Amino acid sequence: NKQEQDELKKEAAIKAAGMVKSGMILGVGTGSTVAFFIDALGKRRKEDGLKLKAMVTTSSRSKKQLESWGFKVGKLSDIDHVDLTIDGSDRVADNFDGIKGGGGALTLEKNVAINSNKIIWIVDESKLVHRLSGFPLPVEVLPISCEQNFRRFQAEGLKPQWRMDNGKRFVTHYGNYIIDLAVDPIPVPHGLADYLDHTVGVVEHGLFLGMCDEVIIAHSNGKIEDKK
Ligand code: A5P
Repeated sequence: NKQEQDELKKEAAIKAAGMVKSGMILGVGTGSTVAFFIDALGKRRKEDGLKLKAMVTTSSRSKKQLESWGFKVGKLSDIDHVDLTIDGSDRVADNFDGIKGGGGALTLEKNVAINSNKIIWIVDESKLVHRLSGFPLPVEVLPISCEQNFRRFQAEGLKPQWRMDNGKRFVTHYGNYIIDLAVDPIPVPHGLADYLDHTVGVVEHGLFLGMCDEVIIAHSNGKIEDKK
């Protein structure tokens, strides 16, 4: 149930918070697991005197929560790299490829990720898959050509669906829309990523391939696994 799952997420989050060191430039992601991480990190700030060099985050929700713990959150464009990023993920394959963007923050998440020296994902067991599957792939598209993108995805058999929010199209932080591709499993992740990277009108997509270095997994039996 949800309460047990939250407990698991919390355990993984506490372990990740223990890996953060003073003096780091830290990237902090988005999602319900990261929310537990932020609380654990805030406690380390208060109780262990954790002092970061700088911090960036991937959503206004995480920013607010970090600031409520007294952290100063900077802009990605103001720093030259991130030492470590801790984020959640919607799916993680055996080879650490992932699908992200369930929360709609994929564009900033990928920009933080690509500028990070090390990436750790914190997930509960339900996110683990052998090959990328079981979660529709988020694609952020510009409003000016989104209808053409949608039709093209349909013609390619990618099963596009508009991300909705209270009966209207979901709007991202950057004023764009999200098309979720229900193609499942993702047959050739690198092929699809390449296709989306070269599709005009696509701002970013949720395939995070070869980016993650380490995964902290909270198993339903209570064991926390640190997989590298
Ligand atoms: C946000 O856009 C996503 O990529 C999140 O990282 C992902 O949805 C994980 O969230 P949960 O920890 O809530 O599952």
